Amino acid sequence: MSHVPLRAHLYYIELGSPDPDKLAQFYRDAFSAEVEDYGASRICWGPERCVIISPGEAKTLQSAGYEVYDAACLDGLAERLAKAGATHKRGATPVFADAVGFIDPSGNHIFYGVPRDHLKNNKGLSGRIQHVVVASRNCEAMINFYSDVVGLTESDRVLDEEGGIRTSFLRSDHEHHCFAVFQASEDRFDHHCYEAADWNAIRDWGDHFADLRVPVKWGPGRHGPGNNLFLFVHDPDGNWVELSAEIEVVTPDRVRGTWPHEERTLNSWGTAYLRS
Ligand SMILES: [Fe+2]
Repeated sequence: MSHVPLRAHLYYIELGSPDPDKLAQFYRDAFSAEVEDYGASRICWGPERCVIISPGEAKTLQSAGYEVYDAACLDGLAERLAKAGATHKRGATPVFADAVGFIDPSGNHIFYGVPRDHLKNNKGLSGRIQHVVVASRNCEAMINFYSDVVGLTESDRVLDEEGGIRTSFLRSDHEHHCFAVFQASEDRFDHHCYEAADWNAIRDWGDHFADLRVPVKWGPGRHGPGNNLFLFVHDPDGNWVELSAEIEVVTPDRVRGTWPHEERTLNSWGTAYLRS
């Protein structure tokens, strides 16, 4: 049994789209991406960010991939998945030279791996791809799976008045969350996020979106859990895309926090979209 802890950060997301070229054009223009054709998919490479767009239904997460800090942790991950009876496989993918891929209890396809060499692109505003969020019909099963099998650590929970879990924020390094899941009536993709250098960089992203006539849909505001500043836009398929700054940095001994299920938890500055 390998005892190398799982430490990783988000490396890419793969979105389904009925028109991959149109969506790729958005990520090229708005996120300064170089677009690489990969079969019927388009891989949009920006500075420290990667979005793969594959033919499929709009607003679906086809997969997400995390880069591991130490390749040795992949053996332990594969062992834990096998022991838990989770569907998984080991091998190369379009972006990873070696990866462990699995299907989580809500049906999401998630990979942890070591990236291949890829197009380098340092153009455009800085904002590294940082977290992905999904809705689940069984939030508790997802928390247990990601904590006990995958090896993430829960940073914060949002609880309703009866003590039911509404949202969980999980981490795999020093940042408050790289993945979050909320309780809903369906399993679905919610949003992904890019972490900018600081609040001034959020201003620059706002001005950049204004130049492109991409309106801000929510924010600016500040999340309770994670304490990050944020604003959201929509891509042409209607996916929520978040720009964040100053997300909480945590130490390994941080005690899990709890938050009430209310508007102020989602946005301490004002109104919120309560989706769970
Ligand atoms: Fe977020």
